[in-house]
Amino acid sequence: MTITPLGIDPAQCFIGGDWIVPMGADTLDLINPSDGSTLCAIARGQAEDIDRAVAAAEAALDGDWGRATAVERGRVLARIGALVLENIEELARLEALDVGKPLTQARADVIALARYMEFYAGAADKLHGATIPYLDGYTVYTLREPHGVTGHIIPWNYPMQIIGRSVGAALAVGNSCVLKPAEEACLTALAFAELAHRAGLPAGALNVVPGIGAEAGAALSAHQGVQHMSFTGSVGVGKLIQTAAAQNVVPVTLELGGKSPQLVFDDADVDAALPFLVNAGIQNAGQTCSASSRILVHRSRYDEVVSKMAARYGALRAGPAMDDLEVGPLVSARQREIVEGFIAKGGDLEVAGQGQIVADAPTGGSYVAPTLFAGVTPDHTLAQDEIFGPVQVVIPFEDEAQAVQIANGTAFGLVASVWSDSGARQMRLAKRLRAGQVFINNYGAGGGVELPFGGTGLSGHGREKGFEALYGFTALKTVAAYHGGTE
Ligand code: NAI
Ligand code: MG
Repeated sequence: MTITPLGIDPAQCFIGGDWIVPMGADTLDLINPSDGSTLCAIARGQAEDIDRAVAAAEAALDGDWGRATAVERGRVLARIGALVLENIEELARLEALDVGKPLTQARADVIALARYMEFYAGAADKLHGATIPYLDGYTVYTLREPHGVTGHIIPWNYPMQIIGRSVGAALAVGNSCVLKPAEEACLTALAFAELAHRAGLPAGALNVVPGIGAEAGAALSAHQGVQHMSFTGSVGVGKLIQTAAAQNVVPVTLELGGKSPQLVFDDADVDAALPFLVNAGIQNAGQTCSASSRILVHRSRYDEVVSKMAARYGALRAGPAMDDLEVGPLVSARQREIVEGFIAKGGDLEVAGQGQIVADAPTGGSYVAPTLFAGVTPDHTLAQDEIFGPVQVVIPFEDEAQAVQIANGTAFGLVASVWSDSGARQMRLAKRLRAGQVFINNYGAGGGVELPFGGTGLSGHGREKGFEALYGFTALKTVAAYHGGTE
């Protein structure tokens, strides 16, 4: 199969508005995780390609992109969003082939990408500074200015959503971007660059250099021409990114995943909760930063929740992305091995429910049967570490205090949810839970483009999504003008 996203050659980088063969003309094989076949060759960008991309991004700031008004930036983002929606089937197909994402889930990602473009298009001309009362004879105000060249290193699990929230917000306020997609999945990043170009985004405003983390990724995160770094991925690489940024003293936003709990109390509407309890764990085969991998249940509802979740697990099927079942393959054989390793560590636990890998799933695909463990103690590896696969654990609790203690008892803090009818409890827990987002009687809230998002602890720092993200992509300048007091 030869894959040419929107007619372009994925063995090239997008730099300065042109498709360019990487230095050394080296390529990597892109694997289809549904069957293990090679989809196409992609560019293996080098440090020299990152140099060229940063230079193009700098030139854009001195050129048309740097001169664009907020209104013009908003208009081009709106055109990009419209083109993304026009190409929904092609983008969804690319993501399904590349990531192994079932088609319906891939389409939802395209819509989220378009929503980010729409949201940041509308926000571009609404970010403003303040005037500040000061001494007699002064007028003081603040300007929100772009950092300059921003670096974006993204993972393979939700390429389109992460491009939307990261590149979309950075462009809205006038930064230029160098994007390094993941070696496991980069087709939609390349397709997005082509669509943005067709929509009229000036040359150099967005540059895309595919490649290996330790090569193109490390070169980007250490580059002295980069003034802000955004990273989504593993905790280990997040530390490397922050260390590299420290050498250049530039700000970083890190989004490093989690161990997000849902708390089900005795007064919860369990039947309403049920689809959220399971979907938040198995969506995208569990390869979701905000996956809910821990279900904490009050002892009085514990048996009911376990048996109802187990029944749902029994109906889950894992199969090829194009078959559009509930669960696709994991992104790679390596990721499957990691997840199988975790499942093996649950050997001492009760498997309460399990889905199936469909009989005709290709043997070369990286499939894992969705697995629900019950009776898990809060300190078990499966209840502490990020698994990043379709695996959930159910943990019983006795009272609210213990529920909070367990919920807050990991190194992460990204998302949490509370299922309860008590308004007072909802409010108490919203304050006490250690997380960047707390949902009450729901989880995840769809794409959540409008909702500020980010973590605490090992989940990272900085906030993306919503209007809040714009503050992170700007530097505040205070202007104090002395003009003399009243005569
Ligand atoms: P990773 O952190 O290695 O990859 C994410 C991105 O970082 C990719 O673009 C990669 O090329 C880049 N990268 C890797 N090494 C780099 C380096 N030295 N310098 C600069 N960039 C570098 O994640 P990986 O290995 O794909 O997945 C491992 C685990 O990480 C997963 O099992 C999961 O637990 C976690 N993860 C969390 C994600 C999230 O959404 N928060 C996304 C992906 C992975
Ligand atoms: Mg890696």
